Amino acid sequence: MLVAGNWKMFKGPQETVSFLESFEAPAGVEIVVCPPFTSLAAAVGRGLAVYAQNVHWAAEGAFTGEISAPMLLELGVDGAIVGHSERRQLFGETDETVRLRCEAALDAGLRVIACVGETETEREAGETDAVLRRQVAAIPRHDALVIAYEPVWAIGTGKTATPELAQEAHETIKELHDTRVLYGGSVKPDNAAALMTQPAVDGALVGGASLDPDSFAEICRAAVS
Ligand code: 13P
Repeated sequence: MLVAGNWKMFKGPQETVSFLESFEAPAGVEIVVCPPFTSLAAAVGRGLAVYAQNVHWAAEGAFTGEISAPMLLELGVDGAIVGHSERRQLFGETDETVRLRCEAALDAGLRVIACVGETETEREAGETDAVLRRQVAAIPRHDALVIAYEPVWAIGTGKTATPELAQEAHETIKELHDTRVLYGGSVKPDNAAALMTQPAVDGALVGGASLDPDSFAEICRAAVS
């Protein structure tokens, strides 16, 4: 099981250090934290795997505001999230840029959590399967890559997918891509166990509930049991 905390645009270096000082990691589960870029250096070397929330496909160049895989590796960062729905919806990320970012990160030696998931409109229109197929087709096959299924309607809304619905989507993804699949979208201490006991759910990508060391630890413990 792999449990990753995506902190999004929360926690500067000081809050990052206090989180990591009070977080008690259970044994028997792979744990990843994904702080914002400016907190990565503070997080590295404190016993947990550290991933960035994005990575550019070029090693260097005229790309204002972007960060490359070699830069992350130089800091001691282990991996990166790619294609989060917030990047797809708010920052123009496309299947093609997701593919480019994944390939560059993997080639450089970073691990990758590549995100897919349908919007509420797409689900209601019966397009979930087609959307997942299109998004998964753009994601390279690699041992160091896992996919996170994050239905957009479940992110930050408190509307978690039912364990059955998550299982069904994960089965679809696994038919297309032989990899571990994490579930993300309103994972909380009280629903984590039910989601992670589904056979096709290999862990969780947690947003809001990963910001508090106790609730994140509780979710990590649910992955062990
Ligand atoms: P929430 O857990 O806050 O719904 O966020 C999920 C997410 O987007 C993780 O990447």
